[in-house]
Amino acid sequence: MAFAPGKVILFGEHAVVYGRPAIAVPVTQVGARVTVERGVGGILVQAKDLGLSHTMGELPVDEALEPVVSLVESALEYLGVRLPPPLVITITSTIAMARGLGSGAAVSTALVRGLGEHFGRELSPEEVSALVYEAEKFHHGTPSGIDNTVISYGHPIYFVRGEPPQTFKVGKPFLLAIGDSGVKSPTKVVVEEVRRRWEKEPSRYEPLFDQIGQVVERAKEEMEGGNLEGLGSLMDENQALLRDLGVSSPQLDDLVKVAREAGALGAKLSGAGRGGSVIALIEERTREAVTTALERGGVQGVITTEVSS
Ligand code: PMV
Repeated sequence: MAFAPGKVILFGEHAVVYGRPAIAVPVTQVGARVTVERGVGGILVQAKDLGLSHTMGELPVDEALEPVVSLVESALEYLGVRLPPPLVITITSTIAMARGLGSGAAVSTALVRGLGEHFGRELSPEEVSALVYEAEKFHHGTPSGIDNTVISYGHPIYFVRGEPPQTFKVGKPFLLAIGDSGVKSPTKVVVEEVRRRWEKEPSRYEPLFDQIGQVVERAKEEMEGGNLEGLGSLMDENQALLRDLGVSSPQLDDLVKVAREAGALGAKLSGAGRGGSVIALIEERTREAVTTALERGGVQGVITTEVSS
């Protein structure tokens, strides 16, 4: 049995697709589990939550299972397993889909680890991440690679596309409230929209990406230094820039405002935007007020997670 956590992007989403840095952290309160057992004939892949199953080699493949089936093939090839014994691969996940919590990357990561363990191979985070990145292309089109990286490494990371990720010390652990807006927002759609706008008007979007990149650099310093007030204001700055980028929504703006008014030190959308999740920097003393405010504001659920190195 293998597990992989969810994740949230703290700073830098979208700009990270264009080479600017971003910071993401794992969220261990939710995750994907994959069991790999010996079966009786062929390779059976079961996605319990979706009520779907598929025997490899048969056609057609359900669209939702396509990335999984293709990843099983590439992972087995990578592991050098030419004639796999009959297998039953069972996938379950507690991560809501298309909410910016990395559901696809978590399932893929648990799957690769589960197959590795079954065939007696302990894969490094780099190896897992590289295999998962290929599967991410199904979900995202042109993924930056941040989701597969943070989930495979399981630590807060500072990430620049195409470079090895950096882990760093979080000076003072802090709490995040993650609220699910209840609106599914496929990353691919929002990323493509930003790309179209950037192609039309690069002189408007490049400076926005630069400003987001600068917020990320300062956020890393504040996280290292344990300055939570400073970190909170940077979340607000990042949210304002995401709004200028056109990826927020009236609902997300409202949830961010509600969290701030209830005492959060800062708040922003996380991930692709339009729907998905909002995150708020909270303290023990504001935890209940912010959670209640987000719930009254209409979120479908709040997860609290501690960020530490
Ligand atoms: O929606 P998520 O959490 O998968 O995040 C998407 C983050 C983007 O920066 C918008 C895209 C990417 O590939 O990094």
